[in-house]
Amino acid sequence: MDFFSIISLVLLLLLLILSLFFIFNLKNKNPNQPPSPPKLPIIGNLHQLGKLPHRSLQKLSQKYGPIMLLKLGKVPTLVISSPEIAKQVLKTHDLECCSRPLTQGPRRLSYNFLDIVFSPYTDYWKEMRKICVMELFNSKRVKSFASVREESVASLIDHISQTSPNPVNLGEKMFYLLDSIICKIACGRSYQGKQFQNGSKHEEVIQEAMAMLGSFAAADFFPHVGWIVDIFTGLHARREKCFHEFDEFYQMVIDEHLDPHRPVPENEDTVDSMLRLLKNQSDGRNLTQVHIKAILMNVFLGAIDTTSVTLVWAMTELMKNPRVMKKLQAEIQKLCWED
Ligand code: HEM
Repeated sequence: MDFFSIISLVLLLLLLILSLFFIFNLKNKNPNQPPSPPKLPIIGNLHQLGKLPHRSLQKLSQKYGPIMLLKLGKVPTLVISSPEIAKQVLKTHDLECCSRPLTQGPRRLSYNFLDIVFSPYTDYWKEMRKICVMELFNSKRVKSFASVREESVASLIDHISQTSPNPVNLGEKMFYLLDSIICKIACGRSYQGKQFQNGSKHEEVIQEAMAMLGSFAAADFFPHVGWIVDIFTGLHARREKCFHEFDEFYQMVIDEHLDPHRPVPENEDTVDSMLRLLKNQSDGRNLTQVHIKAILMNVFLGAIDTTSVTLVWAMTELMKNPRVMKKLQAEIQKLCWED
């Protein structure tokens, strides 16, 4: 084939792709639909999300308005970005909008939505939430672990004072602090540095699980075929590994609690409470050890990263505002004197 034939072929192909693009976007224009940025065949608007989707969405919404329809792969996605419409979604149409999409990472790590964070809004969710509010996270329980929090924070402050004036990685320290506190509250003791059978550490598994919950899974955007892509990219294998590491950890914690030689703890931890509920459950409730594991997943993945990141943000803001920092230090000193 000579040079001009190749050029003509490439141009013809380009023309074909462009025509398909326009036909695809014209065909999908519906006057009753909210505005949408132009889509590509198959992937829709996925290519417009970029590495920081919240920033890309903000930019797109400046152009297409506070209510904008995207097509992420096969999934139509409404993006809301004004307080008035957010109020309509979160208040007026709360019942229709309050369940999260049933995505693959949460599905696997929550034992097929047996938890409360990712479970859809159903009678099951209401029952599990009731158990959490009445039994697991009530104010008496929170107060009973005050000494765990105080001792852990005091030990971190000691450690930082000893390290001074060398810099410390506060993000890392806060993560370890929260990991230790949450382990003691949920499981009765710290598992920091504990190695799993394959050599990964407890805190590494938590970080990997957070990544799995937030990772891009093709199966979420291309139902029926996306799972094949996830197998090729290695996401499926990573998720399975993470699931089994966590499952093994939960099982070890439950077995330790069921050991008849375990000393009676001063305070019931989350696993103690769930095992008590399992033992004394009334008709209709059918709690199993799998439910305990699903709730533990919420506690580990809902409490550690969120709280440590919030604390680092708060410390950063205080460093940027010395006046507020001084005021807070004075308040804390006053509280210490009162104690
Ligand atoms: C600063 C720290 C935290 C932040 C920023 C945070 C953030 C959130 C957010 C945004 C939600 C979703 C609410 C919704 O969809 O309506 C949520 C739900 C939840 N969080 Fe947290 N969280 C934090 C700490 C914790 C802690 C310490 C726990 C301890 C167990 C926890 C357990 C849960 C649970 C169980 C839910 C589900 C509640 C439900 O569906 O009703 N979170 N959290």
